[in-house]
Amino acid sequence: MTKAPNDLSAFWMPFTANRQFKSAPRMLVDAEGMYYTAADGRRILDATAGLWCVNAGHKRRKIVSAIKEAAEGLDYAPTFQMGHPKAFELASRVAELLPEGFSQVFFTNSGSESVETALKIAIAWHRANGEPGRYRLIGREKGYHGVNFGGISVGGLGANRKAFGPLLTGVDHLPHTLDLARNAFSRGLPQHGAELADALEDIVTLHDPSTIAALIVEPMAGSAGVILPPVGYLERLREICDKYGILLIFDEVITGFGRLGAPFAAQRFAVTPDIITMAKGLTSGTVPMGAVGVKSFIHDAFMNGPEHMIELFHGYTYSGHPLAAAAGLATLDVYRDEELLTRAARLEKTWEEAIHALRGLPHVIDIRNIGLVGAIELEPMADAPTKRAFSAFLKAFEEGLLIRTTGDIIALSPPLIINEGQIGEIFDILTRVLKGLE
Ligand SMILES: Cc1ncc(COP(=O)(O)O)c(C=O)c1O
Repeated sequence: MTKAPNDLSAFWMPFTANRQFKSAPRMLVDAEGMYYTAADGRRILDATAGLWCVNAGHKRRKIVSAIKEAAEGLDYAPTFQMGHPKAFELASRVAELLPEGFSQVFFTNSGSESVETALKIAIAWHRANGEPGRYRLIGREKGYHGVNFGGISVGGLGANRKAFGPLLTGVDHLPHTLDLARNAFSRGLPQHGAELADALEDIVTLHDPSTIAALIVEPMAGSAGVILPPVGYLERLREICDKYGILLIFDEVITGFGRLGAPFAAQRFAVTPDIITMAKGLTSGTVPMGAVGVKSFIHDAFMNGPEHMIELFHGYTYSGHPLAAAAGLATLDVYRDEELLTRAARLEKTWEEAIHALRGLPHVIDIRNIGLVGAIELEPMADAPTKRAFSAFLKAFEEGLLIRTTGDIIALSPPLIINEGQIGEIFDILTRVLKGLE
């Protein structure tokens, strides 16, 4: 059987309404700076940094050259019992950006793998530390930690879990912190909800602290539609984890690399976890790569058996891949040279004013913002949840704007190179789109 060269049927697309897409495909064929080019030649303003990842903007020369050069050089080198210089260099550069006390970096190929790695390190650390009974993991409702079994087990999005069986055992969840009744239209962090962190104490008491390995949360939940931590909430989680000897993992796959105006959200919120997961912005989306940063006390606890023995039985064929490492190094150079990791803080007020000007438009029931992240929550249609936001997504694309929707929430996270004019452009188009919605 022969297949047509441009047949769309073979690619089973991820997180996509495949039949809808294939009946009216939205193809991107090129990109530069803040804009994609669609197959019909139209420029599309990228208000989502691809999928929260292209923090340095598209087709940055320095990154492109580094990738080309790397492809001409060392094509592949194992990092199991072997090494190559760029992986070590990148680990050192990432460690420098991480909060005080973080000393080692373990490479993966995606955010999902970073999450699995972090959960495994947390459980194995307790064992290395003489507490093998600590295996329970705690996540949070509406949390998104990728799509592998550990990640969906600690994750809190029903749609991502329900089709996949019993998942991991020994997992519990905190309540989420989205509270429109008290916090709608907050600018920056919401005032109400720090007490929701106290549920951790209840869960700990229920299971007994001696069984609990780690709590994993996104410091700002992105994929569920931009859910911000209430003032004082993360501090409280940190206190309770310290009280009971529980490791705190921040999943910074979205918030890492400048999204909130500091290299990591941990620095923005001045709350330091024990483990940080990252991906996306690490290479500005150019080559798949993720990583897990750990504090030295975690790493050091593994370094005590016979020297010829492997200390952690975990890793990926492509951990620290030469092409990805080269892309990561060039990306970090761009971030440094253009001060992009703090740029979101400088643009935050402009962004906040622009997004909150949408208050009062039809169907808008909440607006949330922090750093260069924003969300506009729409009233769902009575008989068709998600449809209104999806229509906004389709309409925006027609008008030359790429946005992302989840449920009935529009989420925005442009590349960190965005300028004030382009912020204006995003919200002009969105205003027109929202005014035209059913
Ligand atoms: C917080 C968080 N963790 C993990 C992931 C999974 O990353 P990936 O899609 O690279 O596996 C994502 C992706 O959006 C994320 O936002």
